[in-house]
Amino acid sequence: MQKLIVQGGAKLRGELDLQGSKNSALPIMAAAYLCRGECILHNCPKLTDIYAASRILNYIGCKCSFADNTAVITSAQSGHTAIPEELMQEMRSSIIFLGALLGKNKTGTVSYPGGCELGSRPIDMHLSSFRKMGVDIKEKFGRITCSVRKSIHGAKISLPFPSVGATENIMLCAVLADGETVINNAAREPEIKDLADFLRCCGAKIKGDGESSIVIEGVKELHGCEYTVMSDRIAGATYLAAAAAAGGEIIIHKACVGCMEPFISLLDQTGCSIYTIDDGIYLRSGLRLKAVRDCIRTMPHPGFPTDAQAILMAALIKADGTSVFEENIFDCRYRHTDALVKMGADITVLGKTAVVKGVDRLYGARVEATDLRGGAAMVIAALIAEGKSEITSISHIDRGYEEIELCLQRLGADIKRE
Ligand code: EPZ
Repeated sequence: MQKLIVQGGAKLRGELDLQGSKNSALPIMAAAYLCRGECILHNCPKLTDIYAASRILNYIGCKCSFADNTAVITSAQSGHTAIPEELMQEMRSSIIFLGALLGKNKTGTVSYPGGCELGSRPIDMHLSSFRKMGVDIKEKFGRITCSVRKSIHGAKISLPFPSVGATENIMLCAVLADGETVINNAAREPEIKDLADFLRCCGAKIKGDGESSIVIEGVKELHGCEYTVMSDRIAGATYLAAAAAAGGEIIIHKACVGCMEPFISLLDQTGCSIYTIDDGIYLRSGLRLKAVRDCIRTMPHPGFPTDAQAILMAALIKADGTSVFEENIFDCRYRHTDALVKMGADITVLGKTAVVKGVDRLYGARVEATDLRGGAAMVIAALIAEGKSEITSISHIDRGYEEIELCLQRLGADIKRE
C-alpha cells in the first residue's frame, strides 16, 4: 500500500498548472456515450475515478483511450446496458451512467452506487426524476432495472434539493428524449455548465444551465466533438490553502477564478494576499493566518463548497483565533478531524458544527486518509506540522488529485510517495 511521507515546515514557492476537473470530466465522459462518433476530451485529469469511468464506458460498448491528458471516446451503437456491480462499486458517481444508458437505449440496469465515506448517498431524486420521464424502475437486491414502455418523454421536474448528480443525470436522460424537460431548483455548480457546454457542442439544445431552472429540448441525435474540460476548482482551492497555511507565494495557472470565488472570498479573510492574474491566481502568505470571523457554512453553489470544507479547516488549524464550520450538505463529512486532532489540532465536532481553535504548533504523525478531501486536508496539516508525517490509504487522494506529491514538490514541499 502506498503512502505519502511529508516533512513539515517548508514554505511553498513556485508555479503550477491546475489539473482538469474530476467532477466535470466524469459526467462529460458519460455524455460522450450518447454521441454518434468520436469525442476528444482535452484537460482530462489522470485519476483513478477517471479510469474507473473508462472501464464502464468500454463495458457498455465505447472505445475509450487516453493519451496523456486527452481522452478519446468512440461510442458504438450497441453494447451491454447492464453495468455489473463490481464496476458500479468502483466509484460513487457511477450512477451518472444510468442517465446515459437511458438517454441512449431507453433501458439500463445498474447497482446502487458504493456508499462512501461521506455518509449515505441516496439516489431517490435521480430515480423519481426518471419515473417522471416515463421510465419504469424496479429495485431488487441492490440492482436497479429500468425499462420504458413507450418512450422517454420530457417532464417538468422540481428537485427538493439542488443535487449535482441528479441534475446531471436528468440532463443526460433528457437530451435525446421526446419533448422538453424543465429542471427547477437545479444545481448551479460550474460543472453543470461545463456538461451543458459539452452537450451543446454535440448538438444538444440546453439553456439556463448555471441558473436554478434548466430547459432541455430533446433532439434526435448527438454528434461527437472536441472539447476541453474546465479546471478543477477544488484542487485549486487545495493548493491555495496549502500555500496560505505554509506561507510563501505561489501562482496557479489555468484556474477558473470565477468558479473559485466562493472559496477565495473566504480564504481572503485569513489575511493572505490573493490576486487574479492573466490565466490564474497569485497568492502570498506571510504572517500567521487569522481565523475566519463568521461561521463557514457549506452550501450549494454559489455558496461555500462542501468539498473545500476539510481543506479550509486544515489551513485554519494553526490560525490566530477560532473558526466555526457548519457542514450542511453531507451528514458525515468530519471524519478527517480525528487525524488532525492526532497532529495537535484543537477541533470539537458537535453534529454538523465543528469548532476549530487555532493552536501554535502541530506535530507530525502517522494518519490514515478517510476520504478524498479529508486526505487532502491531512496533507495540508502535515505540511505545517513539525517533523515527519505519514499518510496512508492514499488511494482516496488519488481518486481526485493528479500526482499531488509532484505538484507540491514543484512548489517546494518536502513530500514523497513510497
Ligand atoms: C457531487 O456529488 C460531487 N461529486 C461531490 O464531490 C460534491 O461534494 C457534491 O456534488 C456536492 O457539491 C461529483 O460530482 C462526482 P449531490 P453528488 O447529489 O452528486 C443528497 C468530491 O469530493 N442527495 O449534490 O453525489 C446527498 O446525500 C465529491 O469531489 C439525496 O438525498 O452530490 C447529499 O447529502 C464528494 N438524494 C446532498 O443531496 C439524491 O437523490 C448533495 O448531494 C441525491 C442527493
